[in-house]
Amino acid sequence: MIENSKPFEFSLNNIEIGVGAWSWGDRFFWNYGGSFSDADIEAAFRSSTEKGINFFDTAEVYGQGRSELILGRLINNSTKPSFIATKYFPYPWRLTKNSLHTALKGSLKRLQMDCVSLYQIHWPASLISLETLMNSLAEEVNAGKTVAVGVSNFNRNRTQRAYTALAKYNIPLASNQVEYHLLNRHIEKNGLLERCHELGVRVIAYSPLAQGLLTGKYSPENPPPGIRGRRYANLLKEIKPLIELMTEIGKGHGDKTPSQVALNWLICKGALPIPGAKNLAQVQQNNGSIGWRLTEAEVSSLDTASDGIIK
Ligand SMILES: NC(=O)c1ccc[n+]([C@@H]2O[C@H](COP(=O)([O-])OP(=O)(O)OC[C@H]3O[C@@H](n4cnc5c(N)ncnc54)[C@H](OP(=O)(O)O)[C@@H]3O)[C@@H](O)[C@H]2O)c1
Repeated sequence: MIENSKPFEFSLNNIEIGVGAWSWGDRFFWNYGGSFSDADIEAAFRSSTEKGINFFDTAEVYGQGRSELILGRLINNSTKPSFIATKYFPYPWRLTKNSLHTALKGSLKRLQMDCVSLYQIHWPASLISLETLMNSLAEEVNAGKTVAVGVSNFNRNRTQRAYTALAKYNIPLASNQVEYHLLNRHIEKNGLLERCHELGVRVIAYSPLAQGLLTGKYSPENPPPGIRGRRYANLLKEIKPLIELMTEIGKGHGDKTPSQVALNWLICKGALPIPGAKNLAQVQQNNGSIGWRLTEAEVSSLDTASDGIIK
């Protein structure tokens, strides 16, 4: 029935694109149960795994554990293998080394798994040392509870420290998951992307569609619902020329959509995008962003258009 007990074949280097599962179970930000249902999620999951796109990113905090619970159910009813990445949230009250062990145990229970593929530190911690957390991650690898370990939202200095701390246990830092898309290129400008490439740390690009803005479906007249509408009110006024360029470039590749161009641009930069998808149509479209490549000239014209917006 389940082939998910084979996470040991996991390597981020073999993965071009994944699926972000933050919205799966999240009512507050993403309107789970309103604009999409469990049936939509199941259809998206099935279509993706059938296409061999089986890297899913979740976290213990997504939907207060609901995202992991939903994924756990889907994985266990599937005959296709899945690679699951989840995350530890360093709440300020989690002060002891043992808290990571307890948190991973909880995630594995919700996911109905013995071992995840990738366990990540969600944010840098302030009250527990980075080295202590890396030591805990190394223990989980050695205990067979995760195949690989990563970090998220770590800057260049912290990434280097995490890499060095893990190297003492002969464990590679597999990834750093950061916000990266055509409307946020901080990691290109501050050297983090380059350093990750040098260290062999895979950059996992979160919010790769700028939370829907790069799909081209939103405009000042038709803003995204809820918090996003307020957060992106100013940016929305400026993205039209970029969306037009993405549409034009997409046409030259057999009518690829702006979303597909946005995701392919990230792949061309050496990043691994994990777009969120609420339903079958979205996942199918996002998964059509692999198997082809933008040209260098197209990447550079998209860079220029993006520079014109984010300055
Ligand atoms: N490590 C971290 O701190 C962190 C932070 C944020 C996210 N993440 C991870 O990154 C993943 C993706 O990021 P995200 O969910 O913030 O943003 P995103 O992937 O940029 O955008 C996802 C949203 O865009 C819309 N969408 C997606 N594909 C579409 C398509 N083909 N056509 C039209 N609309 C489409 C959907 O919302 P609507 O239909 O409502 O517009 C969807 O929920 C998350 O699920 C999570 O796993 C990690």
